[in-house]
Amino acid sequence: MAFKKGLFKTSVGRKNLMAITGLFIIFFLVIHLIGNLILIIPDTFFPIEFWGGVESAHDMYNAYSHFLVHFWPITLVAWVLYAAIAVHVIDALLITLNNNKAKGEKYQVTDNSTSSWISRNMGILGSIIGIFIVIHMAQFWLKYKVLGTEPDLYQLVVATFKQEWVVILYEIGIIALGFHLVHGIESAHRSLGVYSKNAMHVIKYIALCFALVMTVLYAIIPIIIYFK
Ligand code: HEM
Repeated sequence: MAFKKGLFKTSVGRKNLMAITGLFIIFFLVIHLIGNLILIIPDTFFPIEFWGGVESAHDMYNAYSHFLVHFWPITLVAWVLYAAIAVHVIDALLITLNNNKAKGEKYQVTDNSTSSWISRNMGILGSIIGIFIVIHMAQFWLKYKVLGTEPDLYQLVVATFKQEWVVILYEIGIIALGFHLVHGIESAHRSLGVYSKNAMHVIKYIALCFALVMTVLYAIIPIIIYFK
């Protein structure tokens, strides 16, 4: 009971929840990236007929998406993901409100970890990502998974990325995500109890490399499709 109360009501509990949901979302982002990299596999990669009649990136991407929608354990994980995103966003709003209140009362504890440009702008970065996700879900998830009006997902994604404004929007959203990831991974470890200076040094470095690789790989997908 005390654990339950602490988890949702105290600032430490909220930060832990933010860290756990954030790490789960990162896990999704890695899988999501691997799946979407299929979009940019050159057709020369398919010299022979693959089993199951998969002969091109087009076939492979649609087979992968079909599997995601029709394999029930994945559907279950998707629901956990939606819940994690909702909790992460609500928690972020509560923490921000609390911090603003504390600032108003001039009662904030100074913490060096929150002094970087990224940490001071996590709210703005989070809002850009939020707007990006709403547009992103309306473009693909809603049409393919919910309404079922666009059965050829590969075709839908390619047609969408042929529009310049979409590519620009994705680049902005993905760069904001990259910055958000650097600080998010670092503060998740801090919230979950990694305090040693050396360990934090290593985690900061890993977070930076990880965010850079994720940003570059996500960012090249719309650009390659646009110029293809
Ligand atoms: C170029 C990069 C991306 C492409 C091509 C892409 C493509 C797609 C597509 C086609 C879907 C609908 C089918 C499905 O559910 O898998 C989808 C769903 C989704 N995308 Fe993306 N995406 C990209 C980047 C991102 C980024 C950066 C985020 C997060 C910030 C994101 C978050 C989501 C979420 C939360 C869903 C719903 C997942 C689900 O229902 O299982 N995507 N994406």
